[in-house]
Amino acid sequence: MYSRKLITLDEFTIQELRNFPQATGELSGLLRSIGLAGKRINAEVNRAGLVDILGAAGAENVQGEEVQKLDDFANKTLLDLLNHSLYCAAACSEENENVILFDDPISNSSKYVVVMDPLDGSSNIDVNVSIGTVFGVFKRISPLGTPAVMEDFLQQGKLLVAAGYILYGSSTMLVYATRRGVNGFTLDPSVGEFCLSHPNIQCPTDGKYYSVNYGGYKTFGKGVQQYLDACEERGTQPKEGYKLRYTGSMVADIHRTLLKGGIFMYPASADAPNGKLRLVYECIPFSFIMRIAGGVATNGEVDLLEVKPTGLHERTPYFLGSSEMMAELKQSMQVGDSIA
Ligand code: AHG
Ligand code: MN
Ligand code: MN
Repeated sequence: MYSRKLITLDEFTIQELRNFPQATGELSGLLRSIGLAGKRINAEVNRAGLVDILGAAGAENVQGEEVQKLDDFANKTLLDLLNHSLYCAAACSEENENVILFDDPISNSSKYVVVMDPLDGSSNIDVNVSIGTVFGVFKRISPLGTPAVMEDFLQQGKLLVAAGYILYGSSTMLVYATRRGVNGFTLDPSVGEFCLSHPNIQCPTDGKYYSVNYGGYKTFGKGVQQYLDACEERGTQPKEGYKLRYTGSMVADIHRTLLKGGIFMYPASADAPNGKLRLVYECIPFSFIMRIAGGVATNGEVDLLEVKPTGLHERTPYFLGSSEMMAELKQSMQVGDSIA
């Protein structure tokens, strides 16, 4: 039955435009392109289990087409759609060492640049566990009409115009944040549209889930260890009910943290003093989303949205989640020595 209650992503962004007559519609256009890329990537992710039948990555499938690795496919799909949209001057991706300039007259007159991890959670692709796409949109600082420059991408997270992610999970969701709020859309496969399912997402101020690769415990700093010991202790007390949850896909782990409350971390370790996660296209977008939803994100020392990146692929220790849990972690990290 037709229901007016189902608002699609496009309808939602148009509604936002109606409320803000000064808006130009460029961000809506960009989100539409990213949403379309998400649908194409989703279709490919859903076929991933057939790869042995259709042909392994790097080989030819039965139709004689070359089969791409999924992260390569996701990257090319996003770049292609952004390139052909009217609203993106350039992009930076986990899959490309350098900035990708679209460098044609239309793109050069666009005011936005996009940072992205086209497919995050690569170790989970082969085992059918959720994976995701992460993106952030900055207004460029280089002059309109000229090609974008590196500095357009090395901006503090607090300057983001929008950030979001697509989660290829038991259902496929697109969640994005602007300064006006965080909203989640679930892909309705019957009509192929993202439909508003999680309006105005707020991260609960406290939670019970802590999410970390516990295998690294011995290599973490004393403050982090101390906090994890406290979580473990609370897990033994039925009234507290703390639970450890970690899929190894940050998009899935942070999505749970955002909706249910909790804390997610990828700390520095003895042999990786900057942790593993990438500042520009993994941590900065998620920090913005978390902050708009009422949560907190840090690198263990300062608010992550204040950090100015120095390189496209720089790594950072990373902590984010419910404000009360983050306050306790901060306390532990100040008390405990941060070096293992
Ligand atoms: P990648 O970008 O290589 O796909 O890495 C995934 C990330 C992130 O999604 C996840 O939280 C983390 O790596 C898992 O790493 P560990 O296996 O070291 O815990
Ligand atoms: Mn990644
Ligand atoms: Mn990736």
